[in-house]
Amino acid sequence: MGTYVWTGDELKQRDGAAVDVEDRGYNFGDGIYEVFRVYGGRLFEEEAHWDRLIRSAAEIRIDLPYTVEELSFGISSLMKADRLTDGIVYLQVSRGAAPRGHAFPPSGVRPTVTAFTKDMARPEAALRDGVSVVTQPDIRWLRCDIKSLNLLPNVLAKQAASEAGAWEAVFHRGDTVTEGSSSNVAIVQDGTLRTHPANNLILHGITRAAALRIAGSVGIAVREEAFTLDELYAADEAMLLGTTVEIMPIVRVDDRAVGQGTPGPVTRQLHAEFVKLINH
Ligand SMILES: Cc1ncc(COP(=O)(O)O)c(C=O)c1O
Repeated sequence: MGTYVWTGDELKQRDGAAVDVEDRGYNFGDGIYEVFRVYGGRLFEEEAHWDRLIRSAAEIRIDLPYTVEELSFGISSLMKADRLTDGIVYLQVSRGAAPRGHAFPPSGVRPTVTAFTKDMARPEAALRDGVSVVTQPDIRWLRCDIKSLNLLPNVLAKQAASEAGAWEAVFHRGDTVTEGSSSNVAIVQDGTLRTHPANNLILHGITRAAALRIAGSVGIAVREEAFTLDELYAADEAMLLGTTVEIMPIVRVDDRAVGQGTPGPVTRQLHAEFVKLINH
């Protein structure tokens, strides 16, 4: 964990930083966030994260108190102060602190901005060997496209995965696979990459978008179309897509092997191309 926190106005020592007990992020989960990956001291896909933050803010009617330039400058100074080379930056914006009441606070209440860093190595072994996942009912709301602080269903699902010794929980609404608790999911069927469309039922993942772009550039066919649990079980390959997992092979789903039970060639090819983007 880094030593500093960026609060929008200043860099503070983390152990001296505080948030009001009536901050709406704390009381209601009334806010949004982004997790940026940092490779070699540089923010990966920075612009796409800003675009998503702006969209999430607009969707829940938070007026961002800083411009993207100011936010970008702030988190760059945070990364420098923490000497972060490989890890993540977590940035959160809540609707601010005000006497508790569900409706929006009076205008003039300033959104609370906090950011911190964390060292994180790339998950090399898991990328090499693949991971197992368990399926969980998707009990979330119908605006999963907003990167909101409300993550309780995701927390419970990840805990279920953790207790099952799995890496990730994959959500399904009825028979339809949506996404992971903190990742998107794709399968490969007869050489075609298939993933849930970017609608209200999933987060529009930046890694998902990168994987689709890569697939297009290397001639892998893509279908942005939802698939079922049975199709996931029967897939030739399956993968998680996310800022911290990159393009991660799934080798087991609910204790059933995916394909040969080892990372498949399309997943490997996509990840190899993804690594080129990281090193670019
Ligand atoms: C629910 C959910 N889906 C998908 C993703 C992957 O998105 P990204 O690739 O932008 O990290 C995340 C990332 O945290 C997530 O929380």
